[in-house]
Amino acid sequence: MRLIFIFALLVYLASSEKYYKEPKKFIFDKDFERFKRFLDLHADIKSLDPRYKNATYVESRMGDYLRMEQEINEHHAAYLLNLTTYDRHLQRWSDLDKKEKMKVKCGTKLPRRARAATNAAYLRILKALPKVPNGTQVNHCHFPNPIPDQLSCGCCWAQSCIQVLEHQLLTLKKQSVQLSVQQLVDCDTSNDACDGGWPTNGFRYMQIFGLCNGKDYSYQNAKQNVCKRALCRRMVSPQFIVRQMEIELKGDEESMKKLIMRIGAAVIAMHADEAFLSITKGFYINDSCPKNDPNHAMVVCGFGSDENGEYWLIRNSWGSSWGEYGYVKMKMGNTCGVASFAMWPIIIGERSLNPLTGELEEKIYENAEDEDYLKQ
Ligand SMILES: *[C@@H]1O[C@H](CO)[C@@H](O)[C@H](O)[C@H]1NC(C)=O
Ligand SMILES: *[C@@H]1O[C@H](CO)[C@@H](O)[C@H](O)[C@H]1NC(C)=O
Ligand SMILES: *[C@@H]1O[C@H](CO)[C@@H](O)[C@H](O)[C@H]1NC(C)=O
Ligand SMILES: *[C@@H]1O[C@H](CO)[C@@H](O)[C@H](O)[C@H]1NC(C)=O
Repeated sequence: MRLIFIFALLVYLASSEKYYKEPKKFIFDKDFERFKRFLDLHADIKSLDPRYKNATYVESRMGDYLRMEQEINEHHAAYLLNLTTYDRHLQRWSDLDKKEKMKVKCGTKLPRRARAATNAAYLRILKALPKVPNGTQVNHCHFPNPIPDQLSCGCCWAQSCIQVLEHQLLTLKKQSVQLSVQQLVDCDTSNDACDGGWPTNGFRYMQIFGLCNGKDYSYQNAKQNVCKRALCRRMVSPQFIVRQMEIELKGDEESMKKLIMRIGAAVIAMHADEAFLSITKGFYINDSCPKNDPNHAMVVCGFGSDENGEYWLIRNSWGSSWGEYGYVKMKMGNTCGVASFAMWPIIIGERSLNPLTGELEEKIYENAEDEDYLKQ
């Protein structure tokens, strides 16, 4: 009888076509049953990862899963009791080990080559503008495309550049387009594709080479061996992007408010930690987070205040199941460095005016380094 049972079980296990290999010792393990439900829930994407065919790997993923499950359950209980201002949920990537999780979800690092601090003058312009009245609420978060999902490629630098450029095309030119993130991943040699980059370098790439249609040159979740720039339909010509802007705000939130009121949206680079990866809704507060250790780029597109205080409205690139439909409110006070940097491109708008200075812009290359890059 027992033999028949074991035989039936083996047949069952062999026939159920799971993308993951179950470590034998966990058959009938309650913790593993929950982990299996998690794996089934995310089978559409996780099944593309061959590592789950390895039972040793699955076992170590279960360890991280259980650690996050406990941490998140405790946090969620505290949220229900109003002891914290934001909620957390398990996400598709919750079973990855911390190092890998940060690598695939983030992907911002300061540029390899020191760049001239080009835009100090703009900070002076912002400082000179009249103060933003208390209580001002600004929401410029109208984007032509859904919240992107970088999946398992650490290219937040590219995702955020593209979102800001698409936003500008919509607001300044009334054009609703989808541009190619994959082009930046494959072709921008000044950044490191899925191993991270710095957004201003991405804008510089666009300024020199223009951008392809995102539908032709679609997102592949990995760097491909060839740059297909020459094969696509170009949507944005290099002439169209006048300049890349980067301001080191160092927490000057008054200037960041003025900037967002005038230009609508900009890329920020802040420090995301493991907890940030599982936020679902609410108001993110973390007073112990470093303000000068950026590892993740996102888009700021508004600000305001609610019962928890003043916040920045931030749009991420982790799909719409993260945060509140892909967005989060971050407490003002330069939480995690959200107001340490702002980056954006200047495009030729309706009247070719710089929206900040009101002056006519012409295309220039900032320095000799840009010209070297142009020859590549
Ligand atoms: C299976 O996964 C373990 C843990 O990740 C790893 O050390 C091992 O090399 C893998 N085995 C194979 C055959 O890939
Ligand atoms: C939590 O706060 C909300 C709004 O401030 C309130 O409606 C709710 O009753 C509070 N819940 C608990 C458990 O205190
Ligand atoms: C605006 O807010 C600041 C900080 O909260 C406060 O110090 C200031 O008095 C307020 N000004 C007005 C006009 O309400
Ligand atoms: C705040 O940030 C620090 C540093 O990144 C991190 O270790 C900690 O877990 C975070 N705290 C919360 C409550 O998210």
